[in-house]
Amino acid sequence: MTQLVLPEHTNAIGTIFGGQVAAWIDVCGAIAAQRFCRKQVVTASIDELVFHNAIQRGHIAIFRSAVNAAWNRSMEVGVKVEGEDPLTGVRTHTASAYLTFVALEPDGARAFVPRLLPENDDDRRRALEAGVRREHRLRNR
Ligand SMILES: CC(C)(COP(=O)(O)OP(=O)(O)OC[C@H]1O[C@@H](n2cnc3c(N)ncnc32)[C@H](O)[C@@H]1OP(=O)(O)O)[C@@H](O)C(=O)NCCC(=O)NCCS
Repeated sequence: MTQLVLPEHTNAIGTIFGGQVAAWIDVCGAIAAQRFCRKQVVTASIDELVFHNAIQRGHIAIFRSAVNAAWNRSMEVGVKVEGEDPLTGVRTHTASAYLTFVALEPDGARAFVPRLLPENDDDRRRALEAGVRREHRLRNR
């Protein structure tokens, strides 16, 4: 998902507003979750969100999301955010986030999600790491 950072997306010092980044992370993550399970989804949690670098007004914000793991009724989606200077093409890491989405039936009941079949070692590593984060999340819920 690609967004041009306009004045209405920025704070008093002309860089992107953190709440705007969080909202776009949520949207980009939800798209991946919905495309995977083909159901309505709600955000159950967003893990710690750290902003490593700002994005300037007039620059481009790039969001990439992927489903890391799917369990019974929930999925973990990872979202990576980068800022791009449109004049140079240089990209800087802004933030990364892990979100958990829960799938819903049309009547609002929690819905089962499909199995996520890993295709390579990277997929297997992501799923394993997601399992560790899930344990931590559910312990603290
Ligand atoms: C998220 C929500 C559906 C969870 O409902 P719940 O009754 O507590 O959860 P359940 O026990 O039925 O579990 C449903 C799934 O959610 C997962 N889950 C619940 N709370 C969670 C949390 N804090 N973090 C991660 N996963 C969570 C469970 O593990 C389960 O997934 P699984 O079947 O794959 O294990 C419910 O709290 C809700 O609707 N919250 C509001 C969501 C919302 O409106 N979000 C938008 C912004 S406010």
